[in-house]
Amino acid sequence: MVEWRIPLADLELDETEVRAVAEVLRSRWLSMGPLTAEFERRFAAYLGVKHALAVSSGTAALHLAHLALGAGPGDRVLCPALTFVATANAICYSGAQPVFVDITSPDDLNLSPDDAAAKIDATTRGICVVHYGGYACDMERIGRLARAHGLYVVEDAAHAPGAACWVSDGEGTLVLKKCGSLGDVGCFSFFANKNLTTAEGGMLTTNSDAVAEKLRLLRSHGMTSLTWDRQQGHSFSYDVVALGFNYRLDELRAALGLVQLDRLEANNRRRQQVVAWYRQALAELPDIGVPFAGVTTPSAYHLMPVLLPPGVDRTRLMQHLRARGIQSSIHYPPIHRFAHYRRAAGQVHLPVTEAVAARLLTLPLYPAMRREDVQAVVAALRDGLAAA
Ligand SMILES: Cc1ncc(COP(=O)(O)O)c(C=O)c1O
Repeated sequence: MVEWRIPLADLELDETEVRAVAEVLRSRWLSMGPLTAEFERRFAAYLGVKHALAVSSGTAALHLAHLALGAGPGDRVLCPALTFVATANAICYSGAQPVFVDITSPDDLNLSPDDAAAKIDATTRGICVVHYGGYACDMERIGRLARAHGLYVVEDAAHAPGAACWVSDGEGTLVLKKCGSLGDVGCFSFFANKNLTTAEGGMLTTNSDAVAEKLRLLRSHGMTSLTWDRQQGHSFSYDVVALGFNYRLDELRAALGLVQLDRLEANNRRRQQVVAWYRQALAELPDIGVPFAGVTTPSAYHLMPVLLPPGVDRTRLMQHLRARGIQSSIHYPPIHRFAHYRRAAGQVHLPVTEAVAARLLTLPLYPAMRREDVQAVVAALRDGLAAA
């Protein structure tokens, strides 16, 4: 394993997590049970939604969301291409086809409501937005668009636990609501590089009782009772009422998730401070673009993307950073350019996504980063740019 001086991401965990997991092992009940239920209750309360359902990954959450909202063969679902491939894959798992939508601008890397509107046709069934890097999409506009065309909205909130967006309360007053509570279903990832981690894991959130019931069934083989219910003597048998999956979370991960949820707000504040230091230091490098300038709503500050000047040899620059022990990455190679999607979706042209993706670089960002770490990254970037 490479020992980075400043890694791209780093975990925040200590003996509290170790004790929580050890207690589960000692309890001898490892599969979905009371701690998972507690994690779901606490996550739902944190988000301000009626239902939260824990699942085995963010990808599983997205798959079930599209299925429960009725996507299937012949349907098209709009989504950005500047995201992790799971966003589009999950649409395909449901039998529907993704239609890639451009991003708004080099400053706003979220899906463009204008391009989404232009791509709606009679086969469009839903929209899956991604709150890129933890910065909320314009959910007021997305919501209006979806209502006007009878579309469902899935929020891929993998980057955005704790982020929020201003939306109308229906009576003309704007209210601040958390990402994941703004569409029909919210999908979170608790993968090891996320703001809240359970190693692997995810969460579905919804305010609809009917959708929650479908998600619950699909998560566990379409069965009407869980092993835990039968262990508790709540039921002795079960029926299978849908073609479901095994996308359950387990008690070890739920125990981790409960501790991590307690840390989330403080860690997001520390991330915000690190981003403020970056913005200050990067102001000295006027050739570097820093997206999401001027965003005032709470972000989850999951990623620190910058835009390199056109023509810079990005690979050389990343090697320069690597030689100084600094890890960097690219979020994301756009999905419509991957071989599989070129075959499946044919020629798609997304001018803003393509221009921006060629210049994107993600810098290290994690709660324990110190000001001197940020300064070291920015100094290495400056030297690398001079050399590239
Ligand atoms: C935007 C986005 N969507 C979906 C996923 C998939 O989540 P998971 O890795 O938990 O399946 C990820 C992350 O890994 C992601 O970054």
